[in-house]
Amino acid sequence: MMLVKGTHYRTIWLEGSRVRMINQPLLPHSFEIFDSTDHQETAAAIRTMIVRGAGAIGAAGGFALAQAALEAPEKGFFDYVDRAFVTIRSTRPTAQNLFYSLERVLRAIKAAGNPALSKRAAVQEAEAIADQDAAACKRIGELGKSLVPDPARVLTHCNAGWLAFVDWGSALSPLYAAKREGKKVFVWVDETRPRCQGAFLTAWELGEENVPLALIPDNASGYYMKKGEVDMVIVGSDRIARNGDVANKIGTYEKAVLARENDIPFYVAAPISTIDWECRSGDDIPIEERSEDEVLSICGRDKHEELKSVRIAPSGTKARNPAFDVTPAKYISAIITEKGIVKPHDLISLK
Ligand code: MRU
Repeated sequence: MMLVKGTHYRTIWLEGSRVRMINQPLLPHSFEIFDSTDHQETAAAIRTMIVRGAGAIGAAGGFALAQAALEAPEKGFFDYVDRAFVTIRSTRPTAQNLFYSLERVLRAIKAAGNPALSKRAAVQEAEAIADQDAAACKRIGELGKSLVPDPARVLTHCNAGWLAFVDWGSALSPLYAAKREGKKVFVWVDETRPRCQGAFLTAWELGEENVPLALIPDNASGYYMKKGEVDMVIVGSDRIARNGDVANKIGTYEKAVLARENDIPFYVAAPISTIDWECRSGDDIPIEERSEDEVLSICGRDKHEELKSVRIAPSGTKARNPAFDVTPAKYISAIITEKGIVKPHDLISLK
């Protein structure tokens, strides 16, 4: 369970018609809650990554559509909801949880049949998705902790902890569970350029949980693997194809290949809601391409704690910025879900 300075939070939740979420771009320097009053604002929060991470994006999408139902006029109610659905689904393309949540909430709205009942159904369904997400991640921790040796030196990429879900997290959940059982867990945290989710978010989150860590440059993981200082790699996922190929933050593929080369187990932790049964392989997974500015500059705090972005490349340099890559199933030792731990080629048994 997520504790920030001893208080239990969820990453995102609904309060009346407001969606409240941890303002992630402000971390680790300040912990603030961002309030969104309508579905447009929640959609913008997903797009600008105030909320990010597959599960949290999914919950945000569900809550945004519930907000749209609450806001919709009696006349033209279903048209308003349909338009909101299109707006919210166009925020980010890769995380399957967004489409999973939106479709569930839309189905609940349509099944209820009239505006008053649909409003209630939308809220109930969005809340249920968030609760199920939290329960699934807790279970991933309970199951996955058996894979964590004692002591363990674990490498992770990006942020797949409780900030990336409603609670508990995916890749970090087994580590929290192992630690709570008394195992000695140490984490190598990849910085995860260009947005530095490892440096900004995972380092902060593990610090809140008192898990010892070392932040390393993205290109240092092979060095530590080869030296025998990494016992396992664990990452989350934004979308898993039915053949067990896994999309996750750019750079994950390299870690998997390096892990194989060095005989280190490579695990993916994700709830069933991240699996896209319609995608036959990773080739079908849409990969978000983000602004080149994220690559051409780097963002951080100066000595006065002021947020600054500084350019690191010659002006006029062109850049490319794919946000995710696909790790082929053959590099993955196992996928940890709430329904069990499976080999990637057995994923279909969970359907
Ligand atoms: O671009 P982000 O920060 O939303 O990407 C997040 C990741 O890639 C996580 O590793 C992924 O969502 C898995 S954990 C939910």
